Amino acid sequence: MFNLPLTTVTTLFSLSQLASAYPTTKDIILPRDVTNSSKAGLAGGWGDAERFAEGEKISWYYTWSPFPNPEASAAGLEFVPMLWGQKHVEDWANIDQIIADNNVTTVLGMNEPEYTGQANMTPAEGAAMWIEFIEPLKERGIRLGSVATTSGGLGKNWTRDWLAECDGRCNPDFMVMHTYNVNASRFIVEVEELYATYQKPIWVTEWACHDHIEDKPQCSMDDMIVYMNVTQQFLDETEYVERYAWFGVPSIINPDAATYDENSGEVTPLGEQFMGERNESLPVDGNADGNVTGSITPGTTAGGGGNGGGNGVSATWIPSIGYLGALAILPLLC
Ligand SMILES: *[C@@H]1O[C@H](CO)[C@@H](O)[C@H](O)[C@H]1NC(C)=O
Ligand SMILES: *[C@@H]1O[C@H](CO)[C@@H](O)[C@H](O)[C@H]1NC(C)=O
Ligand SMILES: *[C@@H]1O[C@H](CO)[C@@H](O)[C@H](O)[C@H]1NC(C)=O
Ligand SMILES: *[C@@H]1O[C@H](CO)[C@@H](O)[C@H](O)[C@H]1NC(C)=O
Ligand SMILES: *[C@@H]1O[C@H](CO)[C@@H](O)[C@H](O)[C@H]1NC(C)=O
Ligand SMILES: *[C@@H]1O[C@H](CO)[C@@H](O)[C@H](O)[C@H]1NC(C)=O
Ligand SMILES: *[C@@H]1O[C@H](CO)[C@@H](O)[C@H](O)[C@H]1NC(C)=O
Repeated sequence: MFNLPLTTVTTLFSLSQLASAYPTTKDIILPRDVTNSSKAGLAGGWGDAERFAEGEKISWYYTWSPFPNPEASAAGLEFVPMLWGQKHVEDWANIDQIIADNNVTTVLGMNEPEYTGQANMTPAEGAAMWIEFIEPLKERGIRLGSVATTSGGLGKNWTRDWLAECDGRCNPDFMVMHTYNVNASRFIVEVEELYATYQKPIWVTEWACHDHIEDKPQCSMDDMIVYMNVTQQFLDETEYVERYAWFGVPSIINPDAATYDENSGEVTPLGEQFMGERNESLPVDGNADGNVTGSITPGTTAGGGGNGGGNGVSATWIPSIGYLGALAILPLLC
């Protein structure tokens, strides 16, 4: 669902590029090895990256863009660039340099192309973009993550139609999905369905206990804790799931979903849980199976759908987060 306003940053960034040779596969060194216990990543490289990088669990990050966050990279987290959509095509011209500078092993395709508020493209446009900008990286040893659609019917159909338009010329190494709902069993079914459809490894690059239809029941803090526990456990234990990233670091959908508190500058208890640092018993009032008890203030929700039916509202950009994202990326230029 994310949308970084990077016009100024990207213009400056383009000027600073230098030509360089493509790295060969043997030059690429993963900052941290990814194992069953280090699939977790940060959706957005901001927050206290150094703190998030403590322990084994969190190993990578992405920024919905080709721009790394120097703090997150310095903390040893592996940067995974994304070609978000048309607005980053110009910057993607520098992808060889970005790959070389960041020991990039993997890139991600377009962000929620099925939504007007997101990458917003037809499957044919998506196929053309992928074939021109992403597929060629494959023969240089870079792994390719598919477009990230939400798990609803709209997203599923988009991915299906995109692959049909590609006619064999789009070959993602793994499938990427986003999903928001309040039912952990439903989440698991959606991941399993995607695997059953394409038989490829899976990355879940946005998920949380949240229904994007505002007047539907939402998760309480206890629901959130239980939901994260159940879903993360499933992701950790499922071999075809390679990596995942909770949404979000600061949260624009529900303050209770945040793994980082912008005001205190601290990783939240939920963030510690995501890092695998909490092992006290789960709250007895929490419910991960859809009968959630929480409520959030109407009007505080934002973002793409993924509510099973794919009929969520489209995203609105929250200025404070956009600013924070830009701030996180600005030090690159210095
Ligand atoms: C890339 O790998 C080299 C060699 O291990 C290392 O020195 C460098 O810090 C890495 N760069 C990043 C951004 O991870
Ligand atoms: C997805 O495609 C199927 C079959 O073409 C169609 O029946 C269904 O209505 C579509 N769903 C959405 C949400 O567009
Ligand atoms: C949660 O999802 C599961 C699996 O789809 C479903 O069987 C169950 O009825 C759902 N629970 C609620 C309360 O909707
Ligand atoms: C889930 O909670 C149980 C019980 O507290 C704990 O043992 C387990 O490590 C937790 N798993 C995750 C992935 O948080
Ligand atoms: C990861 O976990 C799965 C499921 O528990 C297991 O089958 C697999 O061998 C594990 N892989 C590694 C590299 O530990
Ligand atoms: C987890 O529990 C064990 C024993 O119950 C304890 O020794 C350990 O310190 C706990 N770890 C964390 C991170 O709370
Ligand atoms: C959850 O909700 C479903 C349908 O909304 C209901 O049938 C079920 O009994 C509820 N489960 C619990 C544990 O409250």
